[in-house]
Amino acid sequence: MNTRFLDACWGKPVDRTPVWLMRQAGRYLPDYMRVRSKCTFLELCKTPDLAAEVSIQPVDILGVDAAILFSDILTPVEPMGMKLDFVPGPVFEHPIRTMADVDALRIPDPEADVPYVLETVRILRRELERKVPLIGFGGAPFTLACYMIEGKGSKDWANVKRMMYEAPQVFNALMEKVTMMDMEYLNAQIKAGAQAIQIFDTWGGVLSPSDYEKYVLPYTTKLINGLNRTETPVIHFVKGAGTMLDSVQKAGGNVMGLDWHINLGKARDILGPQMAVQGNLDPTVLYAPKDVIEKEVKRVLDENAGRPGHIFNLGHGILPTVPPENAIHMVECVHRLSQK
Ligand code: CP3
Repeated sequence: MNTRFLDACWGKPVDRTPVWLMRQAGRYLPDYMRVRSKCTFLELCKTPDLAAEVSIQPVDILGVDAAILFSDILTPVEPMGMKLDFVPGPVFEHPIRTMADVDALRIPDPEADVPYVLETVRILRRELERKVPLIGFGGAPFTLACYMIEGKGSKDWANVKRMMYEAPQVFNALMEKVTMMDMEYLNAQIKAGAQAIQIFDTWGGVLSPSDYEKYVLPYTTKLINGLNRTETPVIHFVKGAGTMLDSVQKAGGNVMGLDWHINLGKARDILGPQMAVQGNLDPTVLYAPKDVIEKEVKRVLDENAGRPGHIFNLGHGILPTVPPENAIHMVECVHRLSQK
């Protein structure tokens, strides 16, 4: 069993830098498209055999050091009582706008309401035995609330911010409920066999540092504190956290996920030696010629300067039109250039 990824999460020394890619199972892989052409995205998430198959594809094709469960951050929101569709971006039929909307949400029982997710985790643990560890994941309360309030993606998240400022009691009640859902959901993944948990806060960086501390930090902190994490490291990825790393760090967790807007070495200086980091190559570098990809990989490794506790990754998800051979090349460069 390749333990490089888990060792790095705990800040232990490793023979070479572990690497995986956010959104590594997806449309840039012809193998994924073959499976995906037979069903919708949600059907794929709800069919454990197929979800497990596409989770394993990047492990075999790219040679990455970890697998991530195939699902979506919004999967557990549907059984809260919100009908979900992907067109291809996520759309909720009835967005949350009032206290009555929040009151109507239920907190799902993971084994009863999302059994397919936990079954996928169990299949993956069996199939990944002697290969690589399995990462489970969920959305951070704020990013989930963003989609629930807005009903879909947004450039400015104006409805979310309006609720925050205009009706903070409604916003806080929603955040509280989403946090409880997330805690149950992620603990169920850990119980089913997930060996690390990543929390995706894709939209946390759209807030000012002071609003982040006031409206987001208390809930993410509560979530991370509520996870059964003595044997399961937590990776906290907040896109756009670079200007408020000190605040984001207060939420806890073992590993800070970094986007590409901050120098990884500077981030480590701010975070201190106790916290591992994950990142942070600009995802568009994977469109570059092979020699440029190699130089950029080397630059990120040089910024880390041999400190233990670095997991190589992109600074956000891999883009759907990236040539797979460039992702394979990136993984090979990380392993070769970091070899002890
Ligand atoms: O990393 C992986 O390989 C595991 C699977 C995974 C998916 N979504 C599959 C997916 C993970 C970890 C996610 C997380 C996710 N989903 C986030 C946080 C990370 C990020 O990228 O910021 C967010 C914000 C979502 C919500 C979401 N799901 C959006 C905005 C979209 C549409 C945009 C897009 O990429 O198409 C999705 C759909 C989605 N989730 C796809 C996949 C493979 C594409 C669906 C398809 O096959 O048509």
